[in-house]
Amino acid sequence: MKTFYIETFGCQMNVHDSEKVIGTLVQRGYSRVEEPGDAELILYNTCSIRDKAEQKVFSRLQQFKKDAGKGKVFGVLGCVAQQEGEKIFERSPHVSLVCGSASYNKLGDLLVRIERGARRVTGLSLDTEDTFETEATRRDSPHKAYITIIEGCDKSCAYCVVPFTRGPERSRTSESIMREAHELAQMGYTEIQLLGQNVNSYLDPSAAGWNFATLLRYIARVEGLRRVRFTTSHPRDFGKDIVDAIDENPVLCNQVHLPVQAGSDSVLRAMQRLYTRDEYMRRIEWLKRSPREIALSTDIIVGFPGETEKDFRMTLDLMDEVEYDSMFSFKYSPRPNTSALQLSDALDENEKGRRLAILQEKQRMIQIRRNAGLIGRNEEVMVEGLNKATGQWIGRTAQNRTLNFTDAAGRAFEPGQYANVAVTRSGPNSLAGETVN
Ligand code: SAH
Ligand code: SF4
Ligand code: F3S
Repeated sequence: MKTFYIETFGCQMNVHDSEKVIGTLVQRGYSRVEEPGDAELILYNTCSIRDKAEQKVFSRLQQFKKDAGKGKVFGVLGCVAQQEGEKIFERSPHVSLVCGSASYNKLGDLLVRIERGARRVTGLSLDTEDTFETEATRRDSPHKAYITIIEGCDKSCAYCVVPFTRGPERSRTSESIMREAHELAQMGYTEIQLLGQNVNSYLDPSAAGWNFATLLRYIARVEGLRRVRFTTSHPRDFGKDIVDAIDENPVLCNQVHLPVQAGSDSVLRAMQRLYTRDEYMRRIEWLKRSPREIALSTDIIVGFPGETEKDFRMTLDLMDEVEYDSMFSFKYSPRPNTSALQLSDALDENEKGRRLAILQEKQRMIQIRRNAGLIGRNEEVMVEGLNKATGQWIGRTAQNRTLNFTDAAGRAFEPGQYANVAVTRSGPNSLAGETVN
């Protein structure tokens, strides 16, 4: 029996790619093991988004080699594989397989070549119209499922590696997506998360020609689904029709992740984000006017080359205006191939760190305030498990907040079950409460 071990880094797209890769391997007679030492094939699905990702991959590969023992086959997948390509063989000669996400359809053939003794095989072409679809996907959770609806990215933000690592945008046909959604619902999944680097740029390549809002409307009608989420939305392609779809369909979660990146027009322009602050704020207004109380989250980069103190203040000011429910924030990190490498006026790491700390403290205060406003409400949660240390059940609300709860009657809950919880306490990152009947 052929055995494999896989380790995954990166965004939800990568996590779900690994679920599909695992399915592909299992279909070909491989079985998965939990320790690299027990595996014949060791796969590493990598992320390249920030912070010298390449170096980390090379040192992890070195570690694997030490831990795993002799006679193993090593493969690098994902964004660093695509970015570094054959250079990986030079720096890590024990690696035999390098394959980017745009070539996963060829993974089966590449494995056959390795099984026949090939020493170095690659899948590195980005020139593809294919999407990676398989019926063999091995999902981690029996309750919540990812569905990739669009791969790649056609934008060219000045700081970002994704267009180089995942290739051009390719949407799946609506028919294939709907088939997968129906199958998942029949298998008992109640929550689905639609994935794409720019999920809302979805455009059905088949004659039906659905746009993203139309797809959302149809998915929301799939019998058995209770929660549908989607990520990540690009502000430029975020139409009012998406808000209308959420307003009309309680199954579509009242939660939208809309990364702004920066609050000043000059930084947005330098980043090539393709929208102005005003255009972004118009979308926020649509969302805020929704009767559904849509939770908003964002990504922000501080310290982009040329970001002045005044620009930075405009980002803080935008945060006050929007009052996000949650935020991911990062120091700008220079990445290979990206056009921002050509920009002068780089900020030093200390200054980036100072700005990040100010931003994160501000967001903490906003979250404390917003979460406190939810005390006294009743929320439906999907149960995720039990926190043994605190004795609380862990739940997640439709707005994607963590709501930990206890049950006065001492009932036990199963992951995937839904419960109604009254919110009694709040903190910056979570809520706590008790079940209600
Ligand atoms: N497609 C999504 C973002 C995907 S990457 C979008 O356009 O919004 C996830 C986040 O990583 C980005 O939103 C950005 O905030 C951050 N990021 C990407 N490249 C970065 C870099 N070079 N330095 C710092 N943060 C970066
Ligand atoms: Fe990167 Fe911009 Fe594409 Fe998002 S839209 S993946 S930030 S290039
Ligand atoms: Fe990382 Fe690639 Fe996702 S760079 S964030 S794994 S698209």
